[in-house]
Amino acid sequence: MKIAIGCDHGGIVLKPAVIRTLEELGAEVVDLGTYTDESVDYPVYGQKVAEAVASGECDAGVLMCGTGIGISISANKVKGIRAAVVTNTFMAEMTKRHNNANIIALGGRVVTPEEASDIVKAWFVAEYEGGRHQRRLDMIADIENKYFK
Ligand code: RB5
Repeated sequence: MKIAIGCDHGGIVLKPAVIRTLEELGAEVVDLGTYTDESVDYPVYGQKVAEAVASGECDAGVLMCGTGIGISISANKVKGIRAAVVTNTFMAEMTKRHNNANIIALGGRVVTPEEASDIVKAWFVAEYEGGRHQRRLDMIADIENKYFK
């Protein structure tokens, strides 16, 4: 499993814990930046990770900014991306089981590195349930097909 990660300066505090957790789970981590705590623009990293996932180059992604919100909004502008902001392990598990989220987004000003680690693990190990949830994901894809080029 190849996981793309990306963050801005507001999320970089979580990066070491996220990388360590993913590697402990057996994932190959592709770090698309940023690499310092210098101020940067989160859409750049949301787009990089979203494109890596949408292209199939990576299987899924983890994004981090101050809240997880801006970077997830950016990622969701890429067709095929279902990026979910998660703040606890219940949300993380459910967004895999029901939404098959291919990216989760975390806030470096919202959760601690320890919480981020638990959240990433809960999402990574959970399994998509399919069934009635697939009908709903298909409906989301229909919206994409209507409005995206
Ligand atoms: C950067 O200051 C901050 O706006 C960003 O990290 C994120 O929280 C945006 O949603």
